[in-house]
Amino acid sequence: MKELIEFCVRRGIIFPDSEIYGNLAGIYTYGPVGVEIKKKLQERWWEEFVESRNDVVGIESPIILPKKVLEASGHLREFNDILVECTKCKEKFRADLLIEEKTGLKVEGKSKKEIEMLIKKYKIKCPKCGGELSAIKKFNLMFETHIGTLENENATVYLRPETAQGIFVNFKRVLKISRKKLPFGIAQIGKVFRNEISPRNFVFRCREFSQAELEFFVHPEKVNECELGALEKLEIKIAPENKRKSVKEIWEEKIVGTKWHLYWIAKSYEWLVKLGINSENLRIRKHNKDELAHYAKETWDIEYKFPNGWKEIEGVSNREDFDLKNHSEKSGEELSYFDEEKKEHVFPWVIEPSFGVDRMILALLAEAYSEKNGKKILKISPSIAPFLVAVFPLVNKGEMGERALEIFRKLKKEISALYDEKGSIGRRYARVDEIGVPFAVTVDGQTLEDDTVTIRDRDTTEQERVKENEIITYLKKFLTRE
Ligand code: GLY
Repeated sequence: MKELIEFCVRRGIIFPDSEIYGNLAGIYTYGPVGVEIKKKLQERWWEEFVESRNDVVGIESPIILPKKVLEASGHLREFNDILVECTKCKEKFRADLLIEEKTGLKVEGKSKKEIEMLIKKYKIKCPKCGGELSAIKKFNLMFETHIGTLENENATVYLRPETAQGIFVNFKRVLKISRKKLPFGIAQIGKVFRNEISPRNFVFRCREFSQAELEFFVHPEKVNECELGALEKLEIKIAPENKRKSVKEIWEEKIVGTKWHLYWIAKSYEWLVKLGINSENLRIRKHNKDELAHYAKETWDIEYKFPNGWKEIEGVSNREDFDLKNHSEKSGEELSYFDEEKKEHVFPWVIEPSFGVDRMILALLAEAYSEKNGKKILKISPSIAPFLVAVFPLVNKGEMGERALEIFRKLKKEISALYDEKGSIGRRYARVDEIGVPFAVTVDGQTLEDDTVTIRDRDTTEQERVKENEIITYLKKFLTRE
C-alpha cells in the first residue's frame, strides 16, 4: 500500500493538496493523470447505472444543505464518531480505531462506559506521546458553516455528508417531471464532506471525497418483484468464509433480505469485474446490526482486497422508507407515491448502491499496478485509462514529427490521446506504461512511404502495423461496452 501511495504521489496521479503551506490532512488533489482516470470512471458509472437504463434518471443537487434537512435525516443527531483526546499533547483520536488496532475488537454498539472500560483494561495510551487519554466524547462528522451575512440559527448550513439527501428532498419534483413509475431510481455523482477525526490510508478515508449514488425506489409490497435474469449465474464471494455462491443460491438461501437489494449488489459486483477487477479480490460482507448506519435496515459492503486487507469500496443498503417518511413528517410535504392500482399513497422503500469513487480508484490502481524487470506498469482497463493512446514520432525530426502531430490532432477529436516527442522511444514507452496508457502509435520511416503506423500494446509490448486511417476503428474496439 505504501508503495502504491508513493507511486501515486510521485507520478502526480493523486497528491496532498496545498503542500506549499503544509497540507490539510485528508484533503487531496488529482493531478493531470488522476483527473482523467476519475472522469472516465465516473462516465462509465453514469453509462452503466443511468444512461443505459430506462428506469433511472440523474440529478445534480447542491453541496450545501439547510440544517432542517439534516435534522430530519438524522445526521445531526446520529452521524458521530467517538473521540478521545490526549491529556498531555492534546492530540485527538478515534477511540474505536485505537481499540481495534490494539486488541482487534470492534466497539460498535458499545456504550460510552464500556468503551472507556476497554481503554482502561487494555492500557491504551496516546499513540503519539504515551499520555493518558481523556473520557470519550461524541463528535459530529459534518462540516458546519454559515450562509448569508447573519450568523443566526437559520443561517447555519452544512456541507453534505452524502449525496443521497439531495435525492430525497427533491424526490417529489423529480418523480413528477420524469413521469416514472415504481420501481425507478434517481442517481447522482458529487462531492461529500466528512470531518474525519483520523483521516488515513490516503484517499481511502479522507475529508472531502466523491460519491456515486443511486437511490432506487421500490413499492414496499413489491420488493421481491425483480428479475435477476443472467445475474443468477454470477458467483459472488461472501465474507467471512469467502466461499462463492451464485446469485441464485444467495436468493434461495435468503442470505440477502430482498430481491431488489440482491439485484443491486449483484449488478455492482458484475460492473466492478467488468472494469477489470479480478473477482478473487472482491467479496460482499453483511453489516452486523451494531454497525448499521442510523438509516439502514440491512447493508452489504462490497469489499476489495487491498494490500493492507479487505476494505469497503461500495455500500449497498436497504434504507426502507426511513428518509422519505422522515422528510415528509418534518417538512409537511407529502413525499409518498400514489399507487394507481390500489388507489392509495405508499412510501417507497429505497435500495441504495453507494460507491466511494476515490476508494474505487484506489482499488483499480492497486489492481492495475505491477512491476516487471524493475519497470512499473499500470495495467488499467482501456475504458478508464487516463488516455487511450499516446502518439510518438520515432525520432523527432523533420517530416516524422510533423506527421505524428497531425495524427495526434486527428485522433484527439475522437479519443483521448497524448503526444510526446521528448527522449528515446524506449523511455517514452516506459513513461506511458507507468501511467496506464494502453496503446502507443508510433510514426516511423515507413509511415512516410506507405501511410502505416505501429500500434504497441502496453500489456504485451507487441506491435502491429495498421493503416493510418484505421487507427480509430482499431482502438475504439477496446472501448465498446459488453
Ligand atoms: N449514502 C450512503 C453513505 O453515505 O454512506
